Amino acid sequence: MPSIQKNGQRALISGVSGCLCFGGGYWRHDYKYAFSIIKKIKPENLIDIGCGPGAFLCEVSRLFPEVQLNALDLSEEMIEETKSRLSGKVTATAGDSENMPLEDEQYQVVTCNMSIHHYPHPQKAVNEMYRILKKGGYLLLNDMDCAAPIRAVANFCFPRLKAGDVKMYNRDEIVELVKTAGFKKIKYRKISPFTFQCIAKK
Ligand SMILES: C[S@@+](CC[C@H](N)C(=O)[O-])C[C@H]1O[C@@H](n2cnc3c(N)ncnc32)[C@H](O)[C@@H]1O
Repeated sequence: MPSIQKNGQRALISGVSGCLCFGGGYWRHDYKYAFSIIKKIKPENLIDIGCGPGAFLCEVSRLFPEVQLNALDLSEEMIEETKSRLSGKVTATAGDSENMPLEDEQYQVVTCNMSIHHYPHPQKAVNEMYRILKKGGYLLLNDMDCAAPIRAVANFCFPRLKAGDVKMYNRDEIVELVKTAGFKKIKYRKISPFTFQCIAKK
């Protein structure tokens, strides 16, 4: 049986992740890097994969009211929260990024912020991102990456913490995932000591 201490630890971790998701994670400062690309591309529509409570899409709606918004998240609760925050301005679907219940070639931009480190089979998810993008569309992928020793510690801890984090992928792994899915013009850059942005074109 798990000890009280272990249960307490897990509750604390899920509480902290929940607060980060609902209350405004540090990574949300990085949304601006996606906004600058959206400003240039001027897409008709966009889908945010692993949308959480819809913080990114709320900002997109405010800055680019002409863009049609779509969302996917594994959690029904997050989908409901996204719908309620965007009151009628989003098509939000509950589903797994690794097997999306979405049609081929529907979107001009696919965004994925701080979600890929939750995916046990990230290649399946990136293949799906490629499939749902229109030809010439863009993938804007943000997530965490740290110096190698910190990444190693995080990857040791993730499965033990059981907070839903699977793996912090390094630069080569991300670029390989995106390349294998079929994307071209892949750009990867660190945008803070803890995060990266990868942009790629279908
Ligand atoms: C750390 S939150 C980030 C949420 C949001 N993108 C943001 O910027 O605040 C990670 C999100 O990924 C979602 N997620 C985890 N695994 C998923 C999967 N396999 N398919 C779709 N969404 C998933 C979680 O439900 C959660 O809402």
